[in-house]
Amino acid sequence: MTNQAKFYAHTCYSNSNWISLLLNALLACPYLKIKSIYYILQDFISAQHMLYSIVTTIYFWNFRNEGTLFYLPILLPWFQFFITLLLFTKNHKLSPVFQLGAIPLFFCYLGMYLVCILLWWRQFMFVEFGFNLLIWCYGFYYFLHMISLTIRFTDGRFLILSLLGWKSGCKVAWITDIHIAKEVLLASSNKGSFIEEKIACPAWSPVLSLESVNGDSWRDLKSKFLIFQKYLPPVEQLTHIIRHILSSQDANIEIDAKKVVQVTLACFVKWIFNRDWDSKWDFVCEASWEWRKEIAIKGKADPVLKCKTIDWLIDLINQSDYYQIFGEQWSTPECYSVIMQPFILSPMINFSDIAVSSSRHPDLSIQELIHYYHPFPILERYTEKDIVVCNDGVNCVLVNANTQVFIPLDTIGQQQQYNHKLWTPFGIGPRKCQGTQYAIPLLTELITHYKNNPRFVPEKNHKYSGRNNDHLSIRESIYQLIIFGKILIRG
Ligand code: HEM
Repeated sequence: MTNQAKFYAHTCYSNSNWISLLLNALLACPYLKIKSIYYILQDFISAQHMLYSIVTTIYFWNFRNEGTLFYLPILLPWFQFFITLLLFTKNHKLSPVFQLGAIPLFFCYLGMYLVCILLWWRQFMFVEFGFNLLIWCYGFYYFLHMISLTIRFTDGRFLILSLLGWKSGCKVAWITDIHIAKEVLLASSNKGSFIEEKIACPAWSPVLSLESVNGDSWRDLKSKFLIFQKYLPPVEQLTHIIRHILSSQDANIEIDAKKVVQVTLACFVKWIFNRDWDSKWDFVCEASWEWRKEIAIKGKADPVLKCKTIDWLIDLINQSDYYQIFGEQWSTPECYSVIMQPFILSPMINFSDIAVSSSRHPDLSIQELIHYYHPFPILERYTEKDIVVCNDGVNCVLVNANTQVFIPLDTIGQQQQYNHKLWTPFGIGPRKCQGTQYAIPLLTELITHYKNNPRFVPEKNHKYSGRNNDHLSIRESIYQLIIFGKILIRG
């Protein structure tokens, strides 16, 4: 009798599980576009699946000697599978089914039930326990993965950054209206102390990133950048160099992400230092993946490789005429960074990201590609004063003083049709991109050269972008959770 009651309790629990899965599936339906609730529910479901594994294990533990009712729970995974499949195939979108984890979960549960039944016959309790442990681990993995994804996109990042804002005593505003965003970017050069300061700057270290630093450090770096820029060869040479490098590539080799990175670096090194690519320098390309790993919050970069790359650049500078600009000081981060970040590391990172988008959307122009699949997912600014606009003689406050503004370029890209007047690809205001004149011709040459070439596979060997070009492994998920946890605790 007690066992019978327990069995019904278990069945009720199973029902609540698939009913909530059904609810989740309904809300997740891309047709309804309720993405935020979708993510929250996914976490809920993941937690519930873990709980479910535990409950079923207890159930099997106690009911090994029960009658035929024992076979009933095998129906449950079938319910989960078909209901979710039905919902999504209706819209011809199978990927959300995978996202929901319904299919892997289905096979996991099915396997679990089958093995448990077999083991029940043979009384192999330890193997049974081991198998359930595997299911728990899978549930835990799934749970971590979903939390990680949630933090990176939509509500998760909103929640984390709002919490940070609340801790540091300033207001937080997410602006997706391009006109208001433009006013903010024109009015402020202060990045505040959120993503750039807490994540990007430590990840770039020991290099100082002109895109990330703030205040006096930014003013000093920018003035050195502008001085150095005057000594650069004319930009037309850059176009000749890339054409020459592209035409001298072996037509039979695959152009994967590593090759895109190497070609990009070879162009800048030839243009800036007039040095041909030397295969001894391949470690610099490797180092770019290390840097981007840390910038994209997917793991700690190799500090030895970072230092080796910095030494390599200082060596190149010392052997060139640029040495006379800052002399001995070139070996300090305040000087070598004006070349290292904008001309060496960032192009390797951004160009290979854009190459991935271009191979997926060969019909889009460079500006369109950047706008729709931006390598900078979020721009940020801190507003010290109210940002006011005058509408028909009436002053209107767009953004209040003491507000940290986040401009999600990825969301804007999804919402806003591109037109050539838009500022989104290279920013606007005092901190707009200083390298548009180099990026556009280089990327245009690169993409037009490889367009429609079956050997152009930039997504191959592509790792660690800040966007969704690549997947998040369990190790990366854990690293990301630790970083966000630390930031939240330390503020
Ligand atoms: C496709 C490639 C590139 C894209 C999409 C891009 C985009 C951007 C964007 C959107 C910003 C503004 C960041 C903000 O407002 O917070 C920026 C800043 C910057 N970019 Fe680029 N950029 C690219 C390539 C380059 C290159 C090749 C250089 C080389 C000089 C460069 C140098 C800079 C610098 C120095 C800044 C910081 C300006 C400052 O804060 O004062 N960029 N870039």
